[in-house]
Amino acid sequence: MTRSKRSKDSDAEPPEPTRILVLHGPNLNLLGTREPEIYGRTTLADIHAAMDARARADGVVVESFQSNHEGQLIDRIQASATENVDFVIINPAGYTHTSVAMRDALAAVEVPYVEVHLSNIHAREPFRHHSYFSDRAAGVICGLGAYGYMAALEFALSQVRKT
Ligand code: DQA
Repeated sequence: MTRSKRSKDSDAEPPEPTRILVLHGPNLNLLGTREPEIYGRTTLADIHAAMDARARADGVVVESFQSNHEGQLIDRIQASATENVDFVIINPAGYTHTSVAMRDALAAVEVPYVEVHLSNIHAREPFRHHSYFSDRAAGVICGLGAYGYMAALEFALSQVRKT
């Protein structure tokens, strides 16, 4: 549930902006050149620019964070609780299939999230078929390439608009 954006003390203060955090796991910094036949040629900067422009049109702030380090991603998830993040879009990348710790962090902060994968993980190697994130996600998008992030963003915007 989205937190109240209005100060209790004064109606004169402008409401805090709605925030959506986009988390990218390891090797996604290489998008554009990394196995383009699987992940496409769109870069992470392109994805962020498109999401930023779309969110701005609704007056929503989108922040993106990529790390190759599990602990840094966990720190960022934990910080989302105190930073009033309303919704998370996450591609845990390789950690999808291994990280109980990132799953636990998302459970601890209780911020709703959508899981995104560029590739269709179910059509790939068996070890990619299981995700530690999917059963707790509001939804899972995979196989739509970079468009999957925009689809996730539209859903997130529809959710934060409800409150
Ligand atoms: C990925 C799929 C994962 O299996 C892989 O380890 C990635 C990217 C995707 O976006 O398709 O790094 O999450």
